[in-house]
Amino acid sequence: MQMVDRVGAGFCPDPQPAGPHHIPRHTVVEDLDRILMQDQPSKFYYVVTGAHGRGKSTLLREMCLRREKKGMGYIEVEPHPKDFGKSLGAALDFNFQEHMGMLNQLVGLMGALPVHKEDSPQMTFKRAASALQEAAAEHKKRTGRPFVLIIDAVDRLAEHAPDILETLQDYCKDWAEQTIVSVVLVCSEGLAPHIMHSRDAWSHAYQPGEIRNITTEEAKDYLVNRGIDAQDAEQLVKVTDGVFQRLEKCVVMLGRGMSVQQATHAILQDIETHFVSAGLLDDTPQQKPGLRVIRELIKPPSSKWSQLFGGDATLGRLHITAAEFRELVPEHTMQDKLLNRSSVFAFDGSHLRFESKTSEAYARDMLPGKSENLKTRIS
Ligand SMILES: Nc1ncnc2c1ncn2[C@@H]1O[C@H](COP(=O)(O)OP(=O)(O)OP(=O)(O)O)[C@@H](O)[C@H]1O
Ligand SMILES: [Mg+2]
Repeated sequence: MQMVDRVGAGFCPDPQPAGPHHIPRHTVVEDLDRILMQDQPSKFYYVVTGAHGRGKSTLLREMCLRREKKGMGYIEVEPHPKDFGKSLGAALDFNFQEHMGMLNQLVGLMGALPVHKEDSPQMTFKRAASALQEAAAEHKKRTGRPFVLIIDAVDRLAEHAPDILETLQDYCKDWAEQTIVSVVLVCSEGLAPHIMHSRDAWSHAYQPGEIRNITTEEAKDYLVNRGIDAQDAEQLVKVTDGVFQRLEKCVVMLGRGMSVQQATHAILQDIETHFVSAGLLDDTPQQKPGLRVIRELIKPPSSKWSQLFGGDATLGRLHITAAEFRELVPEHTMQDKLLNRSSVFAFDGSHLRFESKTSEAYARDMLPGKSENLKTRIS
C-alpha cells in the first residue's frame, strides 16, 4: 500500500473489548471529537493531559474508532522510545531501506561496508517524520483535510528521549502552520508538558483541558457492579479518587480476600511510592525544594486569593503557577525529578497541583508524621 493510502485509511490498534464493567464516557469522547476533529483545520497542535491511569488511552482510541480511523492514526510511544522513529515508520508502512540515503546506497552497491549503517534514533525519527509529511501533504491535496495523528504516552519520550520530543514538537508546530498534519499529543501531567511549555513551539499548542476522573458516584457504581459491597465501596472511593487503575486494584485485592482496611492501606502505600519516586521522603537534592512546593500548596490561601478564586481557607491553595514553581524549584534537573511520571504533582504546563486528593491528604496528614525532620520542614 502506498503511504498516502495508508494515511487515508488510517491506523489504530484494535480496542480492548469494552466488557460489562466499562463505564461509557460518551460526552468526553464527543467533546474530544468536536475539539480535535474540527471541520476547518486549525493552526494548532493539541496536548491532551490527564494524570496517570485516568483512561486517556481508552478514550482516544474510542474516538479514533468512532471515526473508523479514516484520515486518522493512533500510535503509542513504546517503553523504549529510542525506537520511536522506527515505530512511526512501521505504522506508515515506510520502508527505511528503500529510502535510505544516496551515500548509503552507493556504499551498499560497492559492497565496501555493511549495506546500511544504522541511523541514530533522532535521524530515524526525522526520516519517518519527513515521509509522513510527504504522504500527509498528498492526502491534503486529495481530501482537503489534514491527517490527524494521535501520539499517546508522550511521557516516555520526555523521560527517555527528550531530544526526540523536542524535534517532534517542532514538527507539530510546522505541520500545524501548514495544516497538513494535526497532531494530538497525549501525556500525563508532568514532565512532558513541562519540557514542551518551556519551548518556542508551545505557542502553537492548544490544550483542550485535562481528562478528568470519573465522579464519586460513577466510581461507587463501578465497584458495586464488580461485586463489592455498597458500604465497602463507599470507603474505597475515598482513597481511589476515581482513578480506574486504583479501582481495578481494589477489585482484585478484595477478590483475593483482603479486607477494606488492607486494600486502603495498599493504595496509600502506592501513594507513598509516588513520594519516594519524587525523592521527597529521602535525603535527595530535590527534597527541600519539593517540600517547599508542598508547603505552598497546602498553605491556606490569602483572603485576596480566596476572593478571586473562591478558595476555601481550610483547603489550601488549589494550585501554584508555573512561574511560582520555578521560583520555588529554580534548578532544572530538580524540576524534572519532581515531575516524573508517577509523581505526587500534576503539571499541565501552566499550573501545578497535587496529582490527586489522596496525594494531598498524604502530604497533609502522613508526611509530617514520617520523621521529626520532615515534620518541621512541612509545617
Ligand atoms: N471507561 C472505562 N471504564 C472502565 N474501565 C476503564 C475505562 N477507561 C479505562 N479503563 C481501565 O482503566 C485502566 C487505565 O486506562 P488507560 O490505560 O486508558 O489510562 P491512561 O490514562 O491512558 O493511563 P496511563 O497514564 O498509564 O497511560 C485500564 O485498565 C482500562 O481498561
Ligand atoms: Mg495511556
